[in-house]
Amino acid sequence: MNRALILAVETSCDETAVAILRGRLELLASEISSQIDLHKKYGGVVPEVASRNHLPRIRPLIERAAERAGCSLADIDCVAATRGPGLLTSLLVGYSVAKGLAIGLGKPFIGINHLEGHLLSPFLGEPYGPLPSVGLIVSGGHTLLVHLTDVGTYRLLGRTLDDAAGEAFDKVAKLLGLPYPGGPEIDRLAKQGNPKRFDLPRSMLTSRDFNFSFSGLKTAVRYLLPKLEGDFRADLCASFQEAVVDVLVRKAVSATKACGTHLLAVSGGVSCNSRLRSKMTDAAAAAGLDLKLAKPALSTDNAAMIAYAALERYLRGYRSNVSEDADPNLKIGVQELQEFRSYRSSGVAE
Ligand code: KG4
Ligand code: ZN
Repeated sequence: MNRALILAVETSCDETAVAILRGRLELLASEISSQIDLHKKYGGVVPEVASRNHLPRIRPLIERAAERAGCSLADIDCVAATRGPGLLTSLLVGYSVAKGLAIGLGKPFIGINHLEGHLLSPFLGEPYGPLPSVGLIVSGGHTLLVHLTDVGTYRLLGRTLDDAAGEAFDKVAKLLGLPYPGGPEIDRLAKQGNPKRFDLPRSMLTSRDFNFSFSGLKTAVRYLLPKLEGDFRADLCASFQEAVVDVLVRKAVSATKACGTHLLAVSGGVSCNSRLRSKMTDAAAAAGLDLKLAKPALSTDNAAMIAYAALERYLRGYRSNVSEDADPNLKIGVQELQEFRSYRSSGVAE
């Protein structure tokens, strides 16, 4: 049973991705067809371009994943796909193809919340599955702190009130004339810069909640830029990055302590950031917390994390109804738990 073979599809934004996972330990294939080059010239993701490009890529990618995994589609025990949140027209491509595949194969289907995929991704490869923890999800679209007590039992502790952390990286990079996506560019340039040269705001650092705000920081950079001369880019990148990281680290550590758990798990595209990884490692150690950082290959959008979340749900008897639609505004938190319970009590979960 726990060596179940899961095929998952992820098309919530601009990456078309397919993965095949056998049980908790064997990631047999994780294929990603990136559209970054198509969107680069617009400086961000164009929804219409994204959905049109998922369509011709998805079937060949499923076949390539099966070939790489060395299995036939008939061997699959369960098909999964990202149900939301994301761009509706992008979600619909992967969600519809995956549902069709499940129906065609006569196998169960599970729709997965993209945020749950990120949240559980640090545990992929662990034989025991996800542990009670606080998860910091930092991506291009989201910045959330979530208390995980069990798979499907999540409590939203806090979130960004405006820009997501990755969005702030991307917008500041754009102001500096760096290519999209800007996060990795800022990370690279910041390595040669002085993080103390510019004193940038750390919004809500001392607020007595677990929410974030990054738009003021981005605006501070915008107003500072015209006043600067000479070679300032590396120092500005380092100072900006330090401001984002300081807030993420402080809030994540205090949320973990507040929940009475000793494990902090960090995921999402921004968790690739080298400064975030090193500061979080030091802060967790100083606070006596265990830290799990998602592997970089599982941090940015991928289907392996969707397959893994689906596996954990599959093992617990969860199944989705194929008449259910993709939901671009799907939330993570209390509502998830209620849905899970109602599935169980309605007897849909066998
Ligand atoms: O998780 P992800 O692939 O997509 C969403 O679900 O949003 O995250 C993408 C975000 C982008 O904003 C990108 O700039 C950021 O992750 N990112 C980084 C780094 N690598 C990716 N931000 C800072 N430093 C990095 N090294
Ligand atoms: Zn994501």
